[in-house]
Amino acid sequence: MLGTFVLVHLVNHLAGLRGVEAHLAFMQAARAVYRHPAVEVLLLVSAALQGLSGAAMLRRARLFDAAPWMQRLQHWSGLYLGLFLVVHVTAVLAGRGVFDLDTTWYFAAAGFHVRPFAWFFAPYYGLAVLALGAHMGCALHRRLGSTPQTTRLRQAALLLPMLGAAMAGGLIVSMLAGWLYPVRVPSEYLAPFGG
Ligand code: HEM
Repeated sequence: MLGTFVLVHLVNHLAGLRGVEAHLAFMQAARAVYRHPAVEVLLLVSAALQGLSGAAMLRRARLFDAAPWMQRLQHWSGLYLGLFLVVHVTAVLAGRGVFDLDTTWYFAAAGFHVRPFAWFFAPYYGLAVLALGAHMGCALHRRLGSTPQTTRLRQAALLLPMLGAAMAGGLIVSMLAGWLYPVRVPSEYLAPFGG
């Protein structure tokens, strides 16, 4: 469930390549499903379970011990994703509940337009998408099993999600920062940053 949401979520952000209006129209349609109270509760429970199961796995892993680089990549990308998920979902819920904001594209873009927060938000979002690609790529690579016949397939299974994620992350960050087209963030979204 979380996987499907995240896929739709990232496609939603990429819809912004056709302009903010396209992003907002996509979000309105997608929200009809994921903002349904029953679906949203299940989604948030899935996110919590994902974080908890990841934390349990990381407790067994020895993060700083010598390990094959792919294992390290899987551990560190999982750790980042877990931390991101906690901060991100808390921020979205606080945006809605505390600041009474409609958490649209402008909510994500606001931090990029008040100095010095862009220095935080560009790596924060960019690395989240990259970590997602790396984490899924490592899992696919491991699950394909190591036989001489699967060597190339396993390499592709690791590299393609990472490459796709790096491109998607770069595009989303560039869009939010206003590098692809001019962006005017309404003042109510800037206010929490003191902007
Ligand atoms: C560039 C990357 C991302 C941006 C700009 C972003 C932005 C947003 C925004 C604006 C919302 C509010 C949506 C709404 O109100 O309808 C949201 C919600 C959410 N995001 Fe992200 N997000 C990003 C990446 C991710 C990733 C990688 C994950 C998961 C690993 C994720 C998980 C979630 C979840 C679980 C919610 C809560 C959905 C809800 O209950 O309404 N996001 N995000």
